[in-house]
Amino acid sequence: MEQSRRKFIKTTGAAALGSSFVFNIGLSQKGFAANADTLKVGLVGCGGRGSGAASQALSADSNVVLTAMADIFPDRMQSSLENLKSIHNDKVQVDPEHQFIGFDAYKKLIDSGVDVVLLATPPVFRPDHLEYAIEKGKHVFCEKPMAVDAPGVRKILASAEEAKKKSLSLVSGFCWRYHEPKRETFNRVLDGGIGDVMSVYNTYNTGELWFKDRQPEWNEMQYKLRNWLYYNWLSGDHIMEQAVHSIDMMSWAFGDKLPVKATGTGGRQKRTDEKYGNVYDHFAIVYEYENGGKGFHFSRQQKDTTRSYAVDMIGTKGQCLVDCIKRKHEINAGGEKWRYRGDDYDMYQTEHNELFASIRSGKPINDGEWMSNSTMLALMGRMVAYTGQEVTFEEALNSNEVLSPSNEAIATAFEMGFDWPGNNPAIPGETKFF
Ligand SMILES: NC(=O)c1ccc[n+]([C@@H]2O[C@H](COP(=O)([O-])OP(=O)(O)OC[C@H]3O[C@@H](n4cnc5c(N)ncnc54)[C@H](O)[C@@H]3O)[C@@H](O)[C@H]2O)c1
Repeated sequence: MEQSRRKFIKTTGAAALGSSFVFNIGLSQKGFAANADTLKVGLVGCGGRGSGAASQALSADSNVVLTAMADIFPDRMQSSLENLKSIHNDKVQVDPEHQFIGFDAYKKLIDSGVDVVLLATPPVFRPDHLEYAIEKGKHVFCEKPMAVDAPGVRKILASAEEAKKKSLSLVSGFCWRYHEPKRETFNRVLDGGIGDVMSVYNTYNTGELWFKDRQPEWNEMQYKLRNWLYYNWLSGDHIMEQAVHSIDMMSWAFGDKLPVKATGTGGRQKRTDEKYGNVYDHFAIVYEYENGGKGFHFSRQQKDTTRSYAVDMIGTKGQCLVDCIKRKHEINAGGEKWRYRGDDYDMYQTEHNELFASIRSGKPINDGEWMSNSTMLALMGRMVAYTGQEVTFEEALNSNEVLSPSNEAIATAFEMGFDWPGNNPAIPGETKFF
């Protein structure tokens, strides 16, 4: 949930401490026996979300320790480490030899004897990080979005398949899927509560996000990596990095069936300064499904505009409204009204409770396919908005467009002080689809 994003320590710490998860004992022989074995966790990307995920992992199971951390910036790692220690005390056992810095830090962390890896860097790195974690037999918590381009999504799909073969858990950071009120509401919709879903209007309209002022000691690549949100080759643009949550719920409402095609628009109207890199500040996309259903997605990041973060589903028998700001979950069908009245629950904690329970029980969770598809839908939205062309899902998934240099080339540029200018902001009708 982005409304509380990037301020985890203040808000999550106390809640996380108070919500330790107790396992029941009916466990299979496979995997780890009930708390007999300590599960070692490694965190890759020690920023706001990664630190939150580590805190939730440490609260999810009484016998979990954090033993390794990886980042490219020592200061980010140190502040995360200090905060985690202040919350979780001796569950944080990251000695200096296991504080890995650099672009290959993730490999060193994965090879350091951890059982579970939390992937929370900017999205561009995720496909390589996940691939290596699964290759080395680790259970994974993987933040969204999973990639920034179609080759990246295809790599994620292959890793998810590999995870299945190896009986590894792969839990996604699409946190609303782990939110009890949404689960109950979407289950009702999927059980036919509003008939066949024909229209899903979904929004992520919000203000601006953080920006980090340039510091004299930063070279160009360091500056861009600190401000990764504003470079589509690092973040995927805000439709992928943030609004993908709403697109994921749209896909959930359609039973994770894939659309046939999409069309749309977008642009950069208010956030035009050079400091905002090359990303857009608004998108409007229409997804068309085989049964004639349509998904209408609107997102914007523009200061002083009305906020909306909601999914409004219309079916052949009624309507369902999910509002992530007002915390409303309502169905109105056939003259009957239903409204979720239970507790709200901490979905971030649930993600980790279920991940660790699945490891203990030897019953892996694999979110791989739907999390890749939701990432792909947001990417498809970006493609149609950037180019102004109608694109089919097949064309989008098979696209070979890559906006970023390889991870190795980013690392070299970072070390040597080279820049990667990236493309100019896309112009519909001129920017080509390929
Ligand atoms: N599910 C949610 O609600 C939610 C909320 C916020 C962020 N996120 C996602 O989490 C991810 C991280 O976002 P954030 O807000 O924590 O950003 P952040 O900038 O606070 O943290 C990113 C961290 O990764 C580090 N990093 C960058 N490149 C790296 C590399 N190659 N190897 C190791 N570390 C590297 C950075 O130095 C930084 O510490 C993003 O994909 C974002 O979309 C999800």
